[in-house]
Amino acid sequence: MKSSEEETTGNQTSVTMFVIVGFSHQKDMKVIFFLLFLSIYIITVLGNLIILLVISMDPVLHTPMYFFLRNLSFLEICYTSVTLPRMLVSLLSGDTSISFAGCAAQMYFFMFFGATECYLLVAMAYDRYRAICNPLHYTDIMNKKVCIQLAASSWICGNLLALGHTTFVFSLPFCGSNTINHFFCEIQPVLMLICGDTYWNEIQIILGGVFVILMPFVLILVSYGLIISSILKIKSVKGRYKAFSTCFSHITVVTLFYGSCMFTYIRPKSSYSLDVDKIFALFYSVVIPILNPVIYSLRNREVKGALFKSFYTALACRQVLLWTE
Ligand SMILES: *[C@@H]1O[C@H](CO)[C@@H](O)[C@H](O)[C@H]1NC(C)=O
Repeated sequence: MKSSEEETTGNQTSVTMFVIVGFSHQKDMKVIFFLLFLSIYIITVLGNLIILLVISMDPVLHTPMYFFLRNLSFLEICYTSVTLPRMLVSLLSGDTSISFAGCAAQMYFFMFFGATECYLLVAMAYDRYRAICNPLHYTDIMNKKVCIQLAASSWICGNLLALGHTTFVFSLPFCGSNTINHFFCEIQPVLMLICGDTYWNEIQIILGGVFVILMPFVLILVSYGLIISSILKIKSVKGRYKAFSTCFSHITVVTLFYGSCMFTYIRPKSSYSLDVDKIFALFYSVVIPILNPVIYSLRNREVKGALFKSFYTALACRQVLLWTE
């Protein structure tokens, strides 16, 4: 399926819009996909919204860990809103085209929120490290100001990185096909449409992988190395379990998120398959945001308690009504 080429200037073509293939070749599955993704989107937004509200309303949860979790829930809402609504519209209308600017904007926001999530997970690991390794000075070290600074730097770094990446990609010449074999303007399928030397593109992908995935992941591993060595020093089994239990949710989220990201972004080009990639992209862009509230609320006694309490407040009641509608 090659799309018509547009106005040619010299030896390069300027593309003014893209076609996103998505899941549109499975025509008979359209309705099922639409309903599936619509329910996923609604549950993701509502689930994260409930976490956000519960943490904001319950004073018991006004600790650094929940400050970051609230920020993460907010981030997940933004993150899924970059890809899913657009995908739902094109499933419904059958219109798979996206403008050049629209594609650039989607790539920017997706990278912005994705990178911010990577950095926020590091901040959360650092918080756990401080809580377990310096329990006596924890509240001094992780004071409100430090928490806000850590979260804010995640957002700022994510933004700068996405801005640099997107500007670079969209300043390169596009030629030939404008068909993106993916369900949103993800970096690799868009880079495949760029003509000429791809040397810098690959350098860029590698650098991006190092700064967004590898470095944060190493920092998280270091934090957990220190956490584990400190937990092993605790004499009682019960004490060990108690210290470690506050990390379970975070470890689960980190494993799932980095697992699927690494598989997609850090891989030799020869083993590259867009169809396999689409499945993995579904995982990190659609499935993870829905899992977050589930993992954190089911694993966590404090969140469960707060959830239970707030079911009796007017606001939460309204949320529940919305949910059952
Ligand atoms: C997340 O953190 C940033 C930076 O500290 C802050 O500006 C923002 O209000 C926070 N969002 C939520 C929902 O907590």
